[in-house]
Amino acid sequence: MSRMGIWGAVEGFFRRQKSEDRSAANPDFADLLGMTTPMERAWLWRYGRRQFTGKGAVVDLGCWLGSTTIPLVDGLRGNANFRRLGLPVHVYDSFVWESWMDRVVVGTELAGRFQPGDSFQCEFALRAKAYASELEVHAGDLAAIGWCGGAIEFLLVDAMKSWELARATLRLFYPHLIPGTSVVFHQDFCHYYTYWIHLLQFRLRKWFAFQEDVPSSSSTAFRNTGRIPSELLNREWAKADFSSAEVEEAFAYSLEFVRVENREAVQAAKIMCLADLGFIDLARTELDGARAMGCNQYDMQMVGALPGLGAAAR
Ligand SMILES: C[S@@+](CC[C@H](N)C(=O)[O-])C[C@H]1O[C@@H](n2cnc3c(N)ncnc32)[C@H](O)[C@@H]1O
Repeated sequence: MSRMGIWGAVEGFFRRQKSEDRSAANPDFADLLGMTTPMERAWLWRYGRRQFTGKGAVVDLGCWLGSTTIPLVDGLRGNANFRRLGLPVHVYDSFVWESWMDRVVVGTELAGRFQPGDSFQCEFALRAKAYASELEVHAGDLAAIGWCGGAIEFLLVDAMKSWELARATLRLFYPHLIPGTSVVFHQDFCHYYTYWIHLLQFRLRKWFAFQEDVPSSSSTAFRNTGRIPSELLNREWAKADFSSAEVEEAFAYSLEFVRVENREAVQAAKIMCLADLGFIDLARTELDGARAMGCNQYDMQMVGALPGLGAAAR
C-alpha cells in the first residue's frame, strides 16, 4: 500500500500540474522544483503577504525542497505583521531521500543526485538560501522533534502520510493553534491515499471551519475556531475508532465543500478508507458506483488496483 501511496503522490502531482491554469495568480513560483502546483504556491504567497496577522508562528511540516516554504516566506517578507513578530518560519523534514522521489526529479538537474537514504538537506538549504535568515530548520522525524515554540498561527501539513504521523501532528502541533485565527493547510486533503485526514477533520469539525479548497491542487485550508479538547488531540486514533457509518458521514462532510474537480479524488479516498478499515464489500460497491458514473481519473485508478479491489480479486 505504501508504494501506491508514494506513486499516487507523484502521479497525482503531475496530473494536477498539467490541467492547471497558470495565469490565475502571480507570483506563482512555477519554476520551483517541488510536489506542489503553482496555484498552491501562489495561495501560500498571498496568505503570507495578506492574511498572516503575527499572532503566532508559521510551521511547514514536510518541506522537501522548499516549494511550499519559499513562496510562503517570500509572501511573509512583505507583511509588516511577520516582520514585527520577529520569529523564523519553522520547517520540518526528515531530509532523507526515498526512491519514490526520483520520479519527481526526472529530467531535472537533480536526477540521479541522491540515492535512497542520502540526506538532501544541503539541497533544501541551497534552494532556500535567500530565505535562510527567516528559517529555522528542524531536520529529523517531526514526531520525535515536536514543537517547543508557542502559539502556531499557520500550520502547513504535507507530512501526514500515515496514522502515526497524523497522531503526532494532532498531539504535538494542534494544541498550539489560536482559536479564531489559525489556519491548517492540508496539502493532501484531496488525495486518495491519506484518508485519515478526512476522518480526523470530521471528528474535529466543531473546532474548524472550511476556509478554501485551493484550485488545481489537492490542498484544502481550514480555520481553527475553538480550543480543541486535549483528550481528542492526545488520543491514540486508530482505524478501529471509525465505523462504516462514520466513514460515510465523514466523506459526505468533505464532499460538501471540496471543488467539483476534487470530488473524484475524495471519493477515491473514501474507497481507500473503506478498504483499509476492512469494509471491503462497501469499498467494492462504492468503486463500482463511481465507475458507473464515469469516474476513472488517476486517484480512482489507484484505488481500483488495491488488493481486494483490483480486477484479479473479483
Ligand atoms: C510530499 S513531500 C512534501 C513536498 C513539499 N511540501 C514540496 O513543497 O514539494 C513529504 C515530505 O515529508 C517528509 N517526511 C515524511 N515523513 C516525515 C517525518 N516523519 N518527519 C519529517 N518529515 C517527514 C518527506 O521527507 C518529504 O520531504
